Parts: sequence; structure tokens; C-alpha cells
Amino acid sequence: MKHPLAPLFDGHDDIQAEIDRRPADTADHAAATRRILDAYHPGRLTLTVAAVVSETPSSVTLRLRRPDGADLPPFLAGQYVAVYTDGTSRPYAISSGPARPDHWDLTVRRVPGGRISNHLVDTVKAGDTLVTTGPMGTFHHNPLFHGDDVVFLAGGSGVAPAMSMIRDIVDHGLDRRFHLVYGSRSADDILFREELDALAADHPNIRVDHVVAEPGPQWAGPTGFLTASLIKTLAGPLDRRMVYVCGPQALYPYALTQLAELGHPPRRIRLEANGAPVDPTAQPHWPTNTAPDTAVTVTARGQSFRTRRDRPLLDALEDEGIRPEAACRSGECSLCRVRVVKGTVHTAEEARLRLSDEKFGYTHSCVAYPLTDVELDI
Ligand code: FES
Repeated sequence: MKHPLAPLFDGHDDIQAEIDRRPADTADHAAATRRILDAYHPGRLTLTVAAVVSETPSSVTLRLRRPDGADLPPFLAGQYVAVYTDGTSRPYAISSGPARPDHWDLTVRRVPGGRISNHLVDTVKAGDTLVTTGPMGTFHHNPLFHGDDVVFLAGGSGVAPAMSMIRDIVDHGLDRRFHLVYGSRSADDILFREELDALAADHPNIRVDHVVAEPGPQWAGPTGFLTASLIKTLAGPLDRRMVYVCGPQALYPYALTQLAELGHPPRRIRLEANGAPVDPTAQPHWPTNTAPDTAVTVTARGQSFRTRRDRPLLDALEDEGIRPEAACRSGECSLCRVRVVKGTVHTAEEARLRLSDEKFGYTHSCVAYPLTDVELDI
């Protein structure tokens, strides 16, 4: 519809005449935009498990492809996809390189009590299908801010994004120095050992140091944990290098302490959190005299149920069949955002809330814990 003021502007008549001369635009631009968005940022993908590769006694790599063999959406080395199964989801870093778009590799380790990881390791077989998100997450190299000389401290299966980054450097011939310091419990637990060592031997810009906490008699390399002095010995001065950290939950506070001891500034550290904090009560803002094992009542979508204070709200909701959208499960992606209508929650430090979230009562349910009876708007 023509705006009543339009004729007052210089050149209006010519422009209107030009518009009137052109054939009507009947293309469905919304559909075209949707097709492009779906290709790059699909909501859900149903993928075929093309192969299950046994990596260590407790880990497998699931190679996922599209059923029609077409390329998968592009990703940046270090990103993850969420896998949906058994009424919940878990994020897994893609360990393959972005240069091979016909598949994504997800490397999964069995963990004590790990319902989904253990299910994936123990029961998924070639030919099965898995439902995933598209690639997500901000844990990837940013050439503008991260420079071309980086250090990656990995623990256990936290090496998966490092593997993808190294494959990316090799496949694309990137001009980047990459030093992986990789801690494992035993030599048998080291993931991708042969490939990592071969790539480091062939590429002077890639260095890999394996550190084993419980070495057997055959182990001749560094031992123990990733202490400040070991990091300094292996990686040399950190100076202005970016340090990535990825591993089990316990690695983060530990690595941060070691890096602080080395005087490395927090702004030069990137963490990829893996799940909710194991012990939310250890965070300084957990209120004193608030027993974590006390049950409280959660009300959402017309249901009320009891749960412990130290159970993340997202997990408690899923236990009751209430499934907010979720992907990272560590406070980053904000998909699990809920509004606390009544009551008080403890939102873990990991939650990347917007400034306005607190003001309007929003929290990230994957890292929020109900301190009192609460009512949620989902
Ligand atoms: S699932 Fe990503 S912030 Fe909660």
C-alpha cells in the first residue's frame, strides 16, 4: 500500500512508474529463506549411524551421515551437536574435521552413571538412526581474537574438539600453531593416540603431549595432572597465547587455578563447559544453611512434582516428561530458558544470562536449581 506522504518526495513519480512497469514479484521469498536457514541451521536432523569405531575400551566414535548421502551442514571445528534419545538430549563435540562435510564423528566415552553416554556406547550400532541438532556453540577458533598460536588443555573425551581443530588445520593447511596438552587417566584411555602422534610428527606447527595420571610400567611420558609447572614445562611461556580448556567438569576449576598460578589472564582462556556443575553448593553464591538434599515442589505446565534442590531444573522437568528445548546443557545456548514466576532458584555461574534476564525472572533451567518451591513459565 502506498504511503500517503510518498508523493511528496523528490523522484517519487519516476520510482513509482518503474515499480509499475516491472512484472509482479510472485516468488515465495520466505520459503527460499527458510530453505537456506534449514540447510545451515536445521532444527533437527535424522542421521544414519554409518559406522561405530571402537576407540578405547570405554569409548566409541559414531560416524553420522545423512540417509541420502548429501553433505551435512557446515560447522566450525570445536562446535557440538545435541543428540536426542530416551526423552532427553546430550551435547557431543564433533571430532571430525569441517573439511569432510559428508559425515560428523561424535566420540563418546562411557561414564559411571552416564545414562545417555552409556546408552550410546553400549547399544548404538551401524544402521541405527540418531536425531541431532545442527552444529552449535561458540567454542571454536576465532582468528581475530585468538591469534595463531594456541594451547589446548584437554582431559578425557574433552580431546574431541581439539581433534577437530587439528584436522581442520591439517586439511586446510592453516597457518596456526596448535599445542595440545592432553591428560588421560591411563595410557589405554588416550583417544586418537596414533593419529595425533602421526599428525604431530608430520606437521611442525602441531605439537601433542600426552600426560597420564596413572601410568603403567611401560609409560615413559609425563605423568600426573595438568599442574601449573607441567603446563609451563610442556607449553613454555603462555604469554598472549589463547588457552582452550575442555574436559570433565572437575578439570575447569582445576585448570583455572593452575593458569591463574601462571599469571595467565582469564580473557585469554576459553572453556567448553560439559554439563551442569557437579556440586552447585560449592559455588560461592549458594546460600548458606540451604541443604542440597531437601525436596521442594516445582510447578510447570499444570503439573507439580517434588525434586531435590541440587537437581538441575531441566533434568527434573524431563524426569516428569516436560521437555523444554535444550542443547548445550551447560548454560550457554539459552534454549532451555524458563521464567521463574514464583520462588527462588540458584542459577549457576555457568549460565550466560542476558542483562535483562535477571530483571524479568528468566534463568537457564539446565544450570538452575530450585531453592524453594517454584512455579515456572515454560
Ligand atoms: S540447554 Fe543450553 S543453556 Fe540450557
